[in-house]
Amino acid sequence: MSIFDATRKHYNAAGVHPTTDPDNPRSQFAVDRYEDHLRKLIRPGMRALDLGCNAGRFTFAMEEMGAIATGVDFAEIPLRHAKKVAHRRKSRCQFNIGDMAALPYKENSFDFALLPHNIGYLPYQTLESLSVQLKRILSDNGIFVLTMQDQLVKSAGEEVLPERYDVQTGLIGGSRTIPDKGTYASPWYFWTVAFAKYIVEKHLPLEQVKQIEENRFMLVFCNKKG
Ligand SMILES: C[S@@+](CC[C@H](N)C(=O)[O-])C[C@H]1O[C@@H](n2cnc3c(N)ncnc32)[C@H](O)[C@@H]1O
Repeated sequence: MSIFDATRKHYNAAGVHPTTDPDNPRSQFAVDRYEDHLRKLIRPGMRALDLGCNAGRFTFAMEEMGAIATGVDFAEIPLRHAKKVAHRRKSRCQFNIGDMAALPYKENSFDFALLPHNIGYLPYQTLESLSVQLKRILSDNGIFVLTMQDQLVKSAGEEVLPERYDVQTGLIGGSRTIPDKGTYASPWYFWTVAFAKYIVEKHLPLEQVKQIEENRFMLVFCNKKG
C-alpha cells in the first residue's frame, strides 16, 4: 500500500472526530490559535483554499473571515460530512476530493492557500510538488500559509526516540489505533521549520515566519509571477 493510500484509509476509518468536527465547539481550539493571524491576511472576496481540509473547520472559518472558501482532501468520509454541514449552514464553501500531490485546479484559481498543520503527512517531494502547483494555481501576489510544529523542538529533551526513523525518506511514526476500529498505518515525516522553508522558498518567496507559540509556527509565502 502506498503512503498516500495508508493515510487516506486511516482518515476514512477515523471518520469525523469531535475535535475536528466543525459542528462541535471542541474543534474550534485549532482555529482560535491562528484566527487573529489569519484575519490579518484574508481580505473579503479572496478565493481561499484549505489544503487537507478534513471536515472543513478551517474552510468554514476562512469563509467567516470573508473569503470564498474551498476545501480539498483525499478522504471521502470527512469530506462528505463537510458538504452536509455546508448545506445545513447555507454556506457557499465548496469541498473537492483531491490529492495535494496532484491538485485538480487550473491556473490562477485562488488568492490564498492554507496548509493547516498537515505537513507531517507529506513526503519531502510532495511539499516541493505542492509548491510548484501553488505557483501556478495562486494568483499573482497570492499567499501561501503553512502552519507547523518543528519536530526537533518537539522531541528535544525526550528520551524516547520516534517509533522508527527512515534515513532515506525522513519517515517516522507509524501507526495509530482508532477505538473500536483497529490499528492503522499512519505515516508521518520528520519536518523542521528550516527544511519546510527551504523547500517552499525555492518556488514561492518567503514573506515571514511567525512564532505563534513555543513550538507553533506560521510560514507565510507570497507568489510573485513576474
Ligand atoms: C489532521 S487532519 C487535519 C484536517 C484539517 N486541516 C483540520 O484542521 O481539521 C489531516 C487531513 O489531511 C488529509 N491529507 C493528508 N494527506 C493528504 C494529501 N496528500 N492530499 C489530500 N489530503 C491529504 C487527510 O485526509 C486528513 O483529512
